[in-house]
Amino acid sequence: MKNNTIAFVLDDKIVNIDFTKDTQLKPTTTVLQYLRELPTHKGTKEGCAEGDCGACSVVLAEAVKGEDGQVKMQYKAYDSCLVFLPMIHGKQLITVENVGTSSNLHQVQAAMINTDGSQCGYCTPGFIMSLFSLHKNFSNPTREEVEDALTGNLCRCTGYRSILEAAYLSCSPDANDHFTAKEADTIALLQTINEEGFAITTNQQQYFQPNNLAEALAIKIKYPDAYLITGATDIGLLVTKRKMLLPTVIDLSAIKELKETTVTTSGVTFGAGVSLEYIKQKSEKRFAALYDMLVVFGSKQIRNLASLGGNLGSASPIGDTPPVLMAYNATICLVSEQGERELPIKEFITGYRQTKLQPNELIKSVFVPDIAEGVVVKAYKISKRKDLDISTVSAGFRLLLNEANEVVEIDLIYGGMAAMTKSAANAEQFLLGKTWSRENVTAAMQQIDLDFTPISDARSGAAGRRVMARNLLLKFWVETAGVEVGGLI
Ligand SMILES: Cc1cc2nc3c(=O)[nH]c(=O)nc-3n(C[C@H](O)[C@H](O)[C@H](O)COP(=O)(O)OP(=O)(O)OC[C@H]3O[C@@H](n4cnc5c(N)ncnc54)[C@H](O)[C@@H]3O)c2cc1C
Ligand code: FES
Ligand code: FES
Repeated sequence: MKNNTIAFVLDDKIVNIDFTKDTQLKPTTTVLQYLRELPTHKGTKEGCAEGDCGACSVVLAEAVKGEDGQVKMQYKAYDSCLVFLPMIHGKQLITVENVGTSSNLHQVQAAMINTDGSQCGYCTPGFIMSLFSLHKNFSNPTREEVEDALTGNLCRCTGYRSILEAAYLSCSPDANDHFTAKEADTIALLQTINEEGFAITTNQQQYFQPNNLAEALAIKIKYPDAYLITGATDIGLLVTKRKMLLPTVIDLSAIKELKETTVTTSGVTFGAGVSLEYIKQKSEKRFAALYDMLVVFGSKQIRNLASLGGNLGSASPIGDTPPVLMAYNATICLVSEQGERELPIKEFITGYRQTKLQPNELIKSVFVPDIAEGVVVKAYKISKRKDLDISTVSAGFRLLLNEANEVVEIDLIYGGMAAMTKSAANAEQFLLGKTWSRENVTAAMQQIDLDFTPISDARSGAAGRRVMARNLLLKFWVETAGVEVGGLI
């Protein structure tokens, strides 16, 4: 492994940072903090420092080999307040200053001016970066695609109508720009950067970024208490909000084996390091309920960074993927130097932020099996806002009925109702073998009260959570029985 130095492209040049020489920078300095200290890159703004406002949005571009064997640049928007500097090793960092200049505006900048999309202007650089990413990935985007690209950006002056208009105006089929013109040069520059894993050791911190699984497992054994990160959208907040100095970090974001996706006739295995945005795209046709959940997961900037391994590894009771993955009967593969073991995700989470992961293990992948004919899986999320909000109550439900309309299989798995993702076991037991009728479902809704003792917090009182949990079951019945309902309880 190489030591102490990272390299990336900024302003069309390679930037090398040696953390032992540049003592102002720590390995857990965020890209936003780094940019704010550069006299030439203060366009990137800090709003919340926790991924909620998008003012700090940047685009990270990578040289990626496509299925046709061609290497092309791939552009994605990220919240720079959540990205630690070593995570951009080997990538091109694009900020608002790089997109265009006042004498030579980029299409997205010109469109923002022409539509009066900028008012106080504080949020504008972030919007430009999200629009730029949209421009590089879509020509003639749909309303849904535009809204999805902008969900992670807040404008408190409510200039949204004009900003949406700017998106449509600037994303034309002929979306070539100066980045396209320089693509071959940028790829050549990026290919000069060493892809080896590295270790950074400073007076106060150790940061490892291995590039293969064997190396990562060896480091994990040596440093069992190290903070593991993949996207750092959970762990990053310890640094930006709680101001913690993380003594040892193992960064799994560059491990190729954790980025693999395997498609078979019985399901799909997603690597633990695959981004949730990628899984969203891949699940749309095959795992509709997982897709529905990922549509309302964070924002595009968050999903570009966050991983499945991170969502399961953090084992939060309001994590959005565990209920729906459990409803799919998904399994998780854990790996150590001794080998691999597979277990149902239903058994993986054991308590509040606790799992069966041993100190020498990592999450390698998640297998989502296809559902058999007749089985229905659905996912629900109730939050204060539809977008970019965490769940108050969430659910993953699975149902199989026989020809007599009786329940043969049922899973009612809830998030936000207990210290961990948990089944409504009494309600499930009550419904099993019974007719899938409104009468029986209404009776089962009372059983849910026996299953949970929810907490009261800022998002909802316990009574509110109970009503939500009950009504989600009723909603599921309405959607699966196809019956109009007269009023909720
Ligand atoms: C603005 C914002 C919005 C969010 N919205 C949502 C939301 O809508 N729904 C939701 O559920 N969450 C949400 N989150 C939380 C977070 O994005 C998710 O939990 C995400 O999936 C974490 O993935 P990560 O790769 O960033 O995790 P990291 O922060 O890198 O890691 C989280 C934990 O997982 C463990 N871990 C990571 N990878 C592995 C691995 N391969 N093996 C073993 N352990 C591993 C680490 O030990 C760590 O404790 C949000 C966060 C932010 C900041
Ligand atoms: S500063 Fe708000 S998302 Fe980064
Ligand atoms: S232009 Fe003022 S907050 Fe967006």
